[in-house]
Amino acid sequence: MKILVTGGAGFIGSHITDRLLSEGHEVVVVDNFSTGHVANVSDKATLVELDICNQGIVEIFEDLVPDVVIHCAAQASVYSSVNNPQLDARINILGGINVCKASNKVGCKQFIYITTGGALYGDPEYLPCDEDHPIRPISGYGLSKWTLENYLNLLLPNSIHLDVLRLANVYGPRQDPIGEAGVIAKFIHSMLRGKLVTIFGDGDQTRDFIYVSDVARICSMLLEKPDPVVINVGTGVPTSVNRLFQIVSSAIGYKERPRYESLRDGEVRHIYLDSSRAKKGFDWVAETSLDQGLIQTINSMRQLI
Ligand SMILES: NC(=O)c1ccc[n+]([C@@H]2O[C@H](COP(=O)([O-])OP(=O)(O)OC[C@H]3O[C@@H](n4cnc5c(N)ncnc54)[C@H](O)[C@@H]3O)[C@@H](O)[C@H]2O)c1
Repeated sequence: MKILVTGGAGFIGSHITDRLLSEGHEVVVVDNFSTGHVANVSDKATLVELDICNQGIVEIFEDLVPDVVIHCAAQASVYSSVNNPQLDARINILGGINVCKASNKVGCKQFIYITTGGALYGDPEYLPCDEDHPIRPISGYGLSKWTLENYLNLLLPNSIHLDVLRLANVYGPRQDPIGEAGVIAKFIHSMLRGKLVTIFGDGDQTRDFIYVSDVARICSMLLEKPDPVVINVGTGVPTSVNRLFQIVSSAIGYKERPRYESLRDGEVRHIYLDSSRAKKGFDWVAETSLDQGLIQTINSMRQLI
């Protein structure tokens, strides 16, 4: 199949791309390299440098005629969305609508939307959050991702099969520790360089950390499945940021104590996801334990020093 991955030069999109290439698919990556890197994209993929907000995306789709679109490109930082909601809304909503309209124009068969579970459900009424949990995002990021999900439901015709993957906190090799990346990449990056590590808040907040290969695996499992789905993709296991600090410190041999700073806006206190729908529908469960995933991530980040 010919699969177009927006944001395929980024962290998650590049792992999805690699997985699809390894399964024999033809992959086209569309990315503007705002946070992604050419080095993340396999030589076997076709690379198109383009901003998804650019109307010219329709012509690219008309040239390439993908069977499937996997939409990963986004402004993916909660913190940045709090400070610059306009940019967040422009990329995540307007850019996403462009991708949707281009997909309509060429009549692709399937649209897989990569979105967030962690920033969607707001302060949970119950845990773990399943897909039916009320949606009350507390950041511009969560709101923009939810808004596009609604637009996709509205604008995509029935002939395009829409699947929605709501991801927990993803970590793994290639996550960029500079800027507003995930806490794991930041911890490892600082610890390997012997620098001070900052924890925002008291560190007792919990997150559901899912390894990136497990995300890429479920994405490929969705291809050509008969029914559209909305599914959470997480481990269902809460880990506090303090506990994470301990595990990463001891794996690296880091001896310093963290520095605590005030909590940042837009972050919920506790979140972890119920992924039993993915288990039931696809026999998918997260296969990589946090310990295994951290070792692989540390090893890959060590090579970059
Ligand atoms: N990292 C996580 O923990 C996590 C959790 C839940 C959902 N997600 C979602 O997964 C997707 C990928 O996130 P990521 O963590 O890999 O982030 P990332 O920043 O590494 O990847 C985003 C990619 O999109 C590209 N991009 C951004 N704006 C663009 C634009 N206007 N036009 C073209 N390309 C553009 C970037 O250059 C980058 O390559 C996002 O949709 C994000 O919302 C991420």
